Amino acid sequence: MITGNRLKDKVAIVTGGGSGIGEAICKKFAQEGASVVVAGFPEDPVEKVVKEIQKEGEVALGYTGDLSVMGEAESCVKLAVREFGKLDILINNAGVFPEVNMLQDYSEEAFDYMVKNNLRSAFVMSKAALPELHKTKGNIVSAGSEAGKIGIAQNAPYGGTKGFMHAFMKGLAVEQAQFGVRCNLVGPGPIDTAWTHASTGPMDSKMVKTMKEATPMGRRGTPEEVANVYLFLASDEASYVTGALYMVDGGITVAKGGVGSQADSSMKDQPDGELELKHSKDGHTEIRN
Ligand SMILES: NC(=O)c1ccc[n+]([C@@H]2O[C@H](COP(=O)([O-])OP(=O)(O)OC[C@H]3O[C@@H](n4cnc5c(N)ncnc54)[C@H](O)[C@@H]3O)[C@@H](O)[C@H]2O)c1
Repeated sequence: MITGNRLKDKVAIVTGGGSGIGEAICKKFAQEGASVVVAGFPEDPVEKVVKEIQKEGEVALGYTGDLSVMGEAESCVKLAVREFGKLDILINNAGVFPEVNMLQDYSEEAFDYMVKNNLRSAFVMSKAALPELHKTKGNIVSAGSEAGKIGIAQNAPYGGTKGFMHAFMKGLAVEQAQFGVRCNLVGPGPIDTAWTHASTGPMDSKMVKTMKEATPMGRRGTPEEVANVYLFLASDEASYVTGALYMVDGGITVAKGGVGSQADSSMKDQPDGELELKHSKDGHTEIRN
């Protein structure tokens, strides 16, 4: 059910919309009145998300393809314009986290896979969307990360891809202001998706424990808590915000040491995310060919 109007009459593309944070963004945007293109790899549960949104009487359709390929990015933008008449918002949320390893053991394959899916997808999607965003004076919000700010041990290349995104979006913000287009980033900390569970991603349980203990709030965030900030940045409420990186990280980037064990229980209790847990953990954590 459309319960708000913060994105009334807006058209949005959300990449990586089939799982985790992207799924929560799609659902949040649709609830706020946006028409949403849920975009993901062909094997992602994109249609499931579309159907769940439509069941609520909200508006969504799916696009599947490898969004790091220019032709796919152009087709995705064309679909939004053909079906919904325009494009106001691009959310570059797609990303991968295929391997955790010391650099001496890190595979070149995982490095290349991250460059393709974490950076190239944002590059080609932004390039394809900008002509349409110029017409609507729209905006782009991309996924950064705490790892792009402070690095991440045993996945140093992943942090590098996110550091690229931070600088990329700031450059875009400056050059695209002359066309009326705002460009911002959300920087999640450890979020409750497939990536941060030893059972569903490449982190082992020691790394998961260390990550929680390094977070002042002593827990992961939910995909919905991240989607709330995407919503603000994508909406007209953020009309004077561009070139910004909004951290949604439970304080991990300002913390020093294992502070999570000291968190007050009111902060530390893991809220139930709205997404079915199994589904939010259905993400992309391995190399697919
Ligand atoms: N989960 C976290 O703790 C965390 C922390 C910081 C940043 N982030 C960022 O948030 C974003 C979402 O992460 P998530 O945890 O929800 O992961 P996820 O695996 O659930 O979602 C990412 C989605 O993007 C899709 N995708 C990747 N490359 C694609 C491509 N080329 N074409 C089409 N679809 C593609 C994947 O298949 C997947 O469905 C990522 O950019 C990630 O870097 C996540």
